[in-house]
Amino acid sequence: MNLKNGNLAKIAVVFSIILSFHTFSHEGWEAKKYPTDAAHAPTPLPDRVVLTWEDNPATTQSVTWRTDSSTKKGMAHIAIANSNGRALEIETIQAETTFFKSDINEANFHSVIFKDLKPDTLYTYRVGDGVNWTEYYHFKTASDKAQPFSFIYFGDAQNEVRTHWSRVFREAFREAPRAAFTLHAGDLIDNPSWDAEWGDWHQGPDWVNGTIPVIATPGNHEYDRINQGPRYERFWMTKSGKRIEVTMTAFKPEQTDKGTVYKASFVGPKGNASSFEINDGGNIIFVDEGIEAITGFQKKDLLGKSFYAAPLFDRQREPGSPALSNHWRPQFAFPVQDVPSELLKETLYYIDYQGVRFISLDSNQLKKEQVPWLRGVLENNPNMWTIVTFHHPIFSPGSDRDNRELRELWKPILDEFKVDLVLSGHDHSYARTGQIDEEPLRNVPTGYQQAYDPNIGTVYVVSVSGPKLYGITKDKYAKRIAENTQLYQVINIDGQNLEYKAYEATGKLYDAFTLQKRNELPNLLIEAQNLPPENRK
Ligand SMILES: [Fe+2]
Ligand SMILES: [Fe+2]
Repeated sequence: MNLKNGNLAKIAVVFSIILSFHTFSHEGWEAKKYPTDAAHAPTPLPDRVVLTWEDNPATTQSVTWRTDSSTKKGMAHIAIANSNGRALEIETIQAETTFFKSDINEANFHSVIFKDLKPDTLYTYRVGDGVNWTEYYHFKTASDKAQPFSFIYFGDAQNEVRTHWSRVFREAFREAPRAAFTLHAGDLIDNPSWDAEWGDWHQGPDWVNGTIPVIATPGNHEYDRINQGPRYERFWMTKSGKRIEVTMTAFKPEQTDKGTVYKASFVGPKGNASSFEINDGGNIIFVDEGIEAITGFQKKDLLGKSFYAAPLFDRQREPGSPALSNHWRPQFAFPVQDVPSELLKETLYYIDYQGVRFISLDSNQLKKEQVPWLRGVLENNPNMWTIVTFHHPIFSPGSDRDNRELRELWKPILDEFKVDLVLSGHDHSYARTGQIDEEPLRNVPTGYQQAYDPNIGTVYVVSVSGPKLYGITKDKYAKRIAENTQLYQVINIDGQNLEYKAYEATGKLYDAFTLQKRNELPNLLIEAQNLPPENRK
């Protein structure tokens, strides 16, 4: 095309007018946050589709989903998968529907259990109300024999789940797309009754939860507290070891790019005041001089220390008792077995999968009551392998986070039955036991030196998948530790071998070992060689 200079100038003028309109038309515009209740509103189209097992994984599969409350009935179509969708031989199963009122919306949860399935078979299913359907998903039943498989284990997701956990889940899925299930060791979310947080938890895995089942054990953040006293009534310890009553006079969470910071003010028994800033790890990041008149501690005694542990030991005067999140049972269908209390339904259970018994214990309540139940499911266990998961670790990498009660109540039984692997969370760091070098150990409670006992062979793991990361203050008992690192783990079981790999959020291999079954002997633990240097702060 041949354009004269005059024409070029006209075109330039027209373009500059268009561009200036484009610029002016957005002046004064400000982005607004899309409201949380709108972002998580249920509709007649199913969402939060999640596969779980409440019965035998070789012959059953449960699925749960959510709709708005205008959808009064749910149903599922299921067929053996084929490669010609229009020729599927569909069976229709009616759902059980439960009304659910959350903090921001009303919904119906629907649940179906597919029964009498063929083992080791690929099925396809969809859920809906008969008119509004999901797409067809695939799932595969377990073999009814001991067969090789992998699963993915996540420690606490908990904080900024949508922003910072989704990519960890998705990287894990890319590493093990044929995983038999994902296992979540508690603290899936931070606020147990906030629907938006559960919405974020479902959104990260999205369709994957509809094709790879979920096994989960509850953490302390899946528990609300009931019959609690007012939050402003607190107890503190003074420097002279006296328990005093203090009153919280202000409390304000502030979002920062390092997570939530809580600004709070307190008044002591003699009317002295002090202001604090506490990070979302519970550590004191600011305190003013007023603290000395109340407690005898100076600022320097408290800065960087936990608000809830030594030396202040902040406690609510009436802490109440734990109550499982109202979301747990409507949205998951875990086994309801012969458990010692109604309160432990769907938190205390076991599932047998291709030669491995997976046991979920509830480390939040009724710990003593679970002991005979645990003994029973370990005594009558036909599987070669046993993996136990519960949230609070028996060996904690935080010196102010010891769970002595669990060590005293549960460890003797785990020892007696030589449980192979124990998967936990809670401490927002990584620590995995193994044979450690003989060297003087300091700052460790009784029993920690024997965290790994070759005569027993149990390996204990604490891991974290979310972005809230605590420091490690007690590491000598662990073979491999990490700070400031979000991780996921892929565990493969194949006959006599269990192969464990921990990966950083980026997919970089961080830790690995193999357990080998031996006749009449405890497992042989074989450490991987050439692992990268440890991630420390
Ligand atoms: Fe946690
Ligand atoms: Fe926790």
